[in-house]
Amino acid sequence: MADVRVFANAAELNLRAAEAVAAIISSAVRARGRCSLALSGGETPRALYDVLATTFREQIPWPQVHVFWGDERVVPVGSALRNDQMAREMLLSKVACPEAHIHPMATGPVSADEAARDYEETMRQYFSDNRPRFDLVLLGLGAEGHTASLFPNSPALDEQVRWVRAVEVPADPPSRLTLTLPVLSQAANAYFLVAGAGKARALRAALNETTDPKTCPAAAIRLADGALTWWVDTTAANTHRDQDKSKGATEGADQKPVPQDPIGANVDDSEVSRSGETGKTSDAPRDEERPLHK
Ligand code: 6PG
Repeated sequence: MADVRVFANAAELNLRAAEAVAAIISSAVRARGRCSLALSGGETPRALYDVLATTFREQIPWPQVHVFWGDERVVPVGSALRNDQMAREMLLSKVACPEAHIHPMATGPVSADEAARDYEETMRQYFSDNRPRFDLVLLGLGAEGHTASLFPNSPALDEQVRWVRAVEVPADPPSRLTLTLPVLSQAANAYFLVAGAGKARALRAALNETTDPKTCPAAAIRLADGALTWWVDTTAANTHRDQDKSKGATEGADQKPVPQDPIGANVDDSEVSRSGETGKTSDAPRDEERPLHK
């Protein structure tokens, strides 16, 4: 069962997630003298990066952290559209992570495919044992189920050899680099950060084992030898209640089947249970009907 931690507000979510990120980094540095961290982009992680750069700034051994990215937009360095630009503004410009340990994607005047090959080479220099196993990968979730820059029905979803692929995506800007599923799925730890009602359907689909990963790439992130944790807020964890119930329909009475989710999975509420005070979910088995909110 997925480890899903639901928080009532973004402040609590980011504080607890940052606390866990700091613990993973410190543990990796204690064990191996360094930590490999792959950052995600988009808007959701901004607040987390701010908490890492402030509240946890002194608790993280930044000089031993190596920063990579899970994906990047292929636009000129310094563009506000770049994920590394946001991370530099919110985090890396405020902590003592050496520039030599910051490994951005797609920084040169080369084609996207060449940039992907260059990044794989950068990764191979770090993962000298030929096993790209990040200590921690941070991931976001798109409303239609993408993660990193792996979008539904992308040919890159079938990539089993290359560590990094250039992709064209149905989002702006379209040209991206993304780590591939074999890399993302062999991380020691992977954290999804998901907030907002707009992500509720994608979240349910991603947590449902019947989901076709082609239609919801986030569902393909299953760590063979690692810990996957979902950090979500209550609005993302919410589900769309059947409108009839608001007209007095009895809860539980021969409810209509859960509508086929546009992402391609039959989902129900039991995938995401309401967290307790600590943000931990109940350990109820997946098939137990558990209302999200009383
Ligand atoms: C990117 C991200 C992408 C992001 C999701 C969610 O390059 O945009 O890596 O995978 O995590 O699109 O984005 P938001 O956090 O902005 O909703």
